[in-house]
Amino acid sequence: MNTAAEPQLELRGVTKRFGGVGAVDGVTFQVEKGEILGVIGPNGAGKTTLLNCISGVHRVDGGDIRWEGRSIAGLPPHRIARLGIGRTFQIVRPFGSMTVRENAAVGALFGSSAARRGLKEAFEVADQVLELVGLKAKADHPVSALTIPDRKRLEVARAVATRPQLLLLDEVMAGLNNVEIDEALEMVRAVHATGVTVLLIEHVMRVIVGICRRAIVLDFGHVLAEGEPEVVLRDERVIKAYLGERYAKRLRGERGQDSAS
Ligand SMILES: Nc1ncnc2c1ncn2[C@@H]1O[C@H](COP(=O)(O)OP(=O)(O)O)[C@@H](O)[C@H]1O
Ligand SMILES: [Mg+2]
Repeated sequence: MNTAAEPQLELRGVTKRFGGVGAVDGVTFQVEKGEILGVIGPNGAGKTTLLNCISGVHRVDGGDIRWEGRSIAGLPPHRIARLGIGRTFQIVRPFGSMTVRENAAVGALFGSSAARRGLKEAFEVADQVLELVGLKAKADHPVSALTIPDRKRLEVARAVATRPQLLLLDEVMAGLNNVEIDEALEMVRAVHATGVTVLLIEHVMRVIVGICRRAIVLDFGHVLAEGEPEVVLRDERVIKAYLGERYAKRLRGERGQDSAS
């Protein structure tokens, strides 16, 4: 038995092509139980596609995805959710005519086996997760009345209500202001503190540096760099991927004066 050393999630050469183009191309990495792993990379790098592969939305064209030592490649999304992998969607799509609490309860009804209980229990779980993400006071509001940050909180609440062991978050902080990002950071920390492993796709570097001990950089479907966020973000290949060769040169020559973003 070697369960102690086994990663919770393992990707081995995962490949997903669209019309011959490798959106994700030979991606290998591991997620350890209990960590917060950051996944960053420029637009179009393959981050969302990778998440869709893990959660079963896409069937992989090559490689393997292993959850607690067993292959889950090819399983449909609901089976993967029941194994304990929850996710948010980059495009938030709540059930608009329902209340915040009802939306969270839907998550509780369609999650991992621990979450699949009766309606009463689903609403109890909904109340717990709404408290966790700071939406308790708006539980009875219609979703249509929510602000953007609150919609993102609800998206996280819905995913947490499925009682995942691993939560996949796709840019839940995009479009938020600095104060809202700090609140969202606290929310992710609170969820993580309940024992959930987190894989976090994020554009906001402050978030990755603030919350992740390890980050993976994707570029053109490949893993470009992997390591401590501070180290990875200073990697010249990473700077180039984000800003282009011209800015990388300027950063080398005139560090501190370049305010390109
Ligand atoms: N369903 C799809 N059909 C065709 N091409 C897609 C599809 N989803 C993503 N792609 C392409 O795959 C590449 C990676 O996209 P995506 O995973 O969304 O990147 P990211 O999330 O890093 O911005 C892009 O070139 C994108 O156009
Ligand atoms: Mg994306």
